[in-house]
Amino acid sequence: MDVDAYEAWYHTPRGRWIGSTEFALLMRLLRADINTGTNTRTSESLLDVGCGTGYFTRRFAAAGLKTIGLDPDETVIRYAAKKDTGSSYLQGIAESLPFADGSFACCSAITSLCFVAEPEKALMEMWRVAHRGVLLGLLNRRSLLYRQKQGRGAYRGARWDTLDKVMEWTEILLPKPAVVKSATAVFMPSAGVGAQMLERLLPSSLPWGSFLAVYIEKNPARPVPE
Ligand SMILES: C[S@@+](CC[C@H](N)C(=O)[O-])C[C@H]1O[C@@H](n2cnc3c(N)ncnc32)[C@H](O)[C@@H]1O
Repeated sequence: MDVDAYEAWYHTPRGRWIGSTEFALLMRLLRADINTGTNTRTSESLLDVGCGTGYFTRRFAAAGLKTIGLDPDETVIRYAAKKDTGSSYLQGIAESLPFADGSFACCSAITSLCFVAEPEKALMEMWRVAHRGVLLGLLNRRSLLYRQKQGRGAYRGARWDTLDKVMEWTEILLPKPAVVKSATAVFMPSAGVGAQMLERLLPSSLPWGSFLAVYIEKNPARPVPE
């Protein structure tokens, strides 16, 4: 991965819009269950699996979570650690996480599980190390973008998944998930100003948004501590 080019995309007008929209959607699912207060005494921990250059890890940290990023690629880990001295970064793979059971409140994987050959195995590992839940950002196979981009450009080598598939993966999780919440963000294949206006108007309840955010909650909902 060309780390500078990857990170630079998030700072283009289109990248800024997509990154911020995806992050807002993820946080909406997470916020009901996780304390993201700025008070470090009560703020909770998040392991970001497949963190890449750390774009989302840094955003989770800025939202008040204590973050650790993990990725198999040594180059991105070095890059992310240099850019974000407030989080820890380490090399590793989703299928075998070097942490004890329940070490983190939450475990996230943002457009990284789609590069893992055995997603069920990775999900089981993330479920094991999280005591609150697992947050996923996936490429939605039921989207316009899939029809246009599958297997091409930045999406080369990625698997496009469906919510039904995710529900199948969750069947093997123990303890059984209490709740599975999902939402999507629509990104039109044409990236013009008109497309962005339409994207802003479309609700996150649409099943065919290209970015599929899923939060798999372990414990029944309860009041988040102040
Ligand atoms: C498209 S990047 C996403 C990076 C970051 N989460 C983001 O959204 O900007 C996919 C990342 O998944 C990582 N990855 C690939 N296989 C993995 C595995 N088995 N376990 C954990 N991460 C993996 C890659 O190294 C890469 O950094």
